[in-house]
Amino acid sequence: MYTSSSILAVLLGTTLALVASCDVPIASEAQAKPLTREPRLDSNASCKECHKAVFSRWRSSRHSKAGRNPAFDFEYNSHPGKWCMGCHAPRSTADLKLTPARRQGVDCLTCHVQDGILHSRSRAPSSPHKTKAREDFGGPEMCAGCHQFNFPVLSPKGDLVRYTKQPMQNTFAEFRDSGSGAECIDCHMQRDGHRFPGAYVSEKVLEALKVDLCRDATGYQVAIENALSAHNLPSGGVNRAIVLSLESEENPSGRRHYRMERLYDGPVGARKKRKDTTLQPGAKATWKIAGTLLGLGKQERLILAAQFYFGTDPNPKAPKAKVQVFKRGYAAQDIERCELP
Ligand code: HEC
Ligand code: HEC
Ligand code: HEC
Ligand code: HEC
Ligand code: HEC
Repeated sequence: MYTSSSILAVLLGTTLALVASCDVPIASEAQAKPLTREPRLDSNASCKECHKAVFSRWRSSRHSKAGRNPAFDFEYNSHPGKWCMGCHAPRSTADLKLTPARRQGVDCLTCHVQDGILHSRSRAPSSPHKTKAREDFGGPEMCAGCHQFNFPVLSPKGDLVRYTKQPMQNTFAEFRDSGSGAECIDCHMQRDGHRFPGAYVSEKVLEALKVDLCRDATGYQVAIENALSAHNLPSGGVNRAIVLSLESEENPSGRRHYRMERLYDGPVGARKKRKDTTLQPGAKATWKIAGTLLGLGKQERLILAAQFYFGTDPNPKAPKAKVQVFKRGYAAQDIERCELP
């Protein structure tokens, strides 16, 4: 069983031994001068001196924002416990202060340094580090440490009392059950490296979300597919939804919506799944829309769009964000007829 605690224990066990070297020469990516001393591994900022490109990609990733994004801050401030920091900024202390370590979120040291030793999948011949090369580095189990966990029961201080049986985030289990031959990093690092693009990057979402519009006797049908072989669409937390909308340009008040999300309700410790319209790997769904609601007419123009909503918490004060995945216009008379099943 992959519990987050086992892998987190490894991550949290990361004591950062100080390496006695301060003035590290500045070298450009991949053409560092031969070094006589190992670069220090106790400061995330110091990695930037030599790994500029990696650093700036990481800066634009969600990992770098994990300890300080507005949605996280809002929730964390109401129960500032150690549990949250274990995944959102594992090198930081559990209090409300925005310490430098918390600002860094899931940083270079979180993933690469354990007990003062640099870990990676391989070691470059030119590397100044005494790298421990591990084939399993960056494998799905490492990601699972933070990307797979059940709803917790927390103490008033926000510390973990126990996990319940319902998954709060299920990405690794979905991946494992899919039998996908790819690894997480094959898809999440292949082009943009340490930017780890996901739901906030519309081009990434379009790799999974395939949508087709056709016309039938009563109105329209939207065929929705998760073209991804690896995990659900959407995956991740219960605080997000993909919302498709179809409207007629002439009659926007008749707009119709279709939500893809996973919802739970019930008391803490005994949550029950209420709704799950996420699509499993390769799965399809059909959304039928009666045409009259759109003011159906031969000349009308239709707009089909998808938005990714983040922070679907009903609390009106909770910060919300949305990203437009696509918006397409159609002239009604050009929309193809749906094939009969
Ligand atoms: C003085 C320059 C320098 C500093 C500072 C530095 N590195 Fe490196 N690092 C290199 C060079 C050179 C390589 C060889 C590969 C390359 O050229 O990118 C390398 C390789 C690596 C690798 C790949 C494994 C290996 O050994 O080939 C990782 C991971 C890595 N560094 C992480 C870090 C982290 C994390 C930090 C900050 C704690 C850091 N580095 C600081 C120069 C540096
Ligand atoms: C979420 C975990 C994670 C974080 C955060 C992270 N890395 Fe990595 N890093 C990886 C993985 C996974 C690989 C790929 C292993 C492979 O395929 O060789 C990797 C590879 C590398 C490499 C070698 C290959 C390359 O892309 O150049 C370097 C150098 C490196 N990381 C430096 C850094 C630095 C510097 C930071 C902080 C700015 C950082 N990493 C943050 C997980 C992480
Ligand atoms: C130490 C915990 C930790 C580890 C290890 C980790 N992640 Fe993350 N990851 C997070 C957190 C926390 C976020 C959410 C950041 C935010 O949005 O506030 C995140 C966000 C992401 C996102 C963006 C999700 C989105 O909303 O678009 C992707 C993709 C991702 N991680 C992939 C990976 C992969 C692949 C690995 C393994 C190589 C990995 N992560 C390892 C904690 C971790
Ligand atoms: C075959 C490619 C592929 C593999 C393998 C893969 N992902 Fe993804 N992942 C994507 C795509 C494409 C998206 C954007 C669509 C989406 O949101 O599901 C995504 C989205 C995500 C998100 C954002 C969650 C969401 O849907 O809102 C997270 C987190 C994530 N992946 C983590 C992982 C982890 C962890 C693994 C391995 C256990 C993994 N992914 C394996 C392609 C992949
Ligand atoms: C076991 C790891 C883990 C723990 C513990 C954890 N999270 Fe997360 N959290 C994640 C990952 C991974 C993501 C990114 C995937 C997603 O958002 O779908 C995330 C996403 C989030 C987001 C959404 C970020 C966004 O804007 O998209 C919020 C808010 C959040 N977490 C708050 C918290 C709070 C508050 C706590 C403590 C009560 C906490 N988390 C504990 C792993 C964790």
